[in-house]
Amino acid sequence: MDFKLTDIVSINDFSRADIDLVLEKAAEMEKLPVSKKNTVLANKTVASVFFEPSTRTRLSFETAIQNLGGQVVGFADAEVSSTKKGESLSDSIRILAGYADMIVMRHSIEGAARRAAEVSDKPIINGGDGANQHPTQTLLDLYTIKKAFGKISGLNIGLLGDLKYGRTVHSLMYALKKYGNVNVYCIAPDSLKMPAEIIEDVKGKINVKETSKLEEFLPEIDVLYATRIQKERFVDEFEYEQIKNVFILGKEILENTKKGFKIMHPLPRVNEIKPELDETDAALYFEQAKNGLPVREALLSILKDVKKG
Ligand code: CP
Repeated sequence: MDFKLTDIVSINDFSRADIDLVLEKAAEMEKLPVSKKNTVLANKTVASVFFEPSTRTRLSFETAIQNLGGQVVGFADAEVSSTKKGESLSDSIRILAGYADMIVMRHSIEGAARRAAEVSDKPIINGGDGANQHPTQTLLDLYTIKKAFGKISGLNIGLLGDLKYGRTVHSLMYALKKYGNVNVYCIAPDSLKMPAEIIEDVKGKINVKETSKLEEFLPEIDVLYATRIQKERFVDEFEYEQIKNVFILGKEILENTKKGFKIMHPLPRVNEIKPELDETDAALYFEQAKNGLPVREALLSILKDVKKG
């Protein structure tokens, strides 16, 4: 297998072939009953350490580890770890690398996963580092888009909401660059625009248009990727309160969309998507969350034999 990565830290580290390999493996995993894959991680232990809250990422990884026959150790709250006593991230990761064969982690600090990968002699999988990246979410997002549309290139993709702090949309932009021939509409209020350096980075590979008005490009969009306003990243709570309900999607948007139009969201949602959309054909977000399981099974099975130099 031609997969050179020893850690999953940033989607930028992936080649297009690496991404395609994970997506192909995920499709295989999705078809296999647990009884046909429950020895893949036999005698392997995976540490799952979440210094920030999570439902989907942590529990889909932990379910994936169990489906593959591995053991899980870890914590869901840094308050119950020795971080509370002042232990550094580097020390914690070195210790965990002595116990486990792989480490899945989420941390509030941008760059935490990269630092962990430097000090760990076992593979690190980044389950989100601050407002920086969420590469495994991106892999499941790409898997979901490909399943729904049969392709990624050639699509018109709208990114909506908090594009400044939303790590999922940052990673997705870098991934779409690897596919090319994608029109991306970045739809955000001025204070939550996609960082200029990301737009600069993808320039020439994908076409990016920016607006603060959803209606401006809505009729052209194939898939609208909505995001939560990231309350936890705001320094000023008043600023969050002012902007928190900037986009609320309801059934009325479907009057002005293309045939086959889909809505995605990494979840959790707060007010961004009204429940009235949940039972419509446009709602892809629950399926998207479910796809996290085969994609994470695929990643774990690919990384299980990695030896770091
Ligand atoms: N999409 C996502 O990362 O969800 P969690 O925060 O629940 O893991």
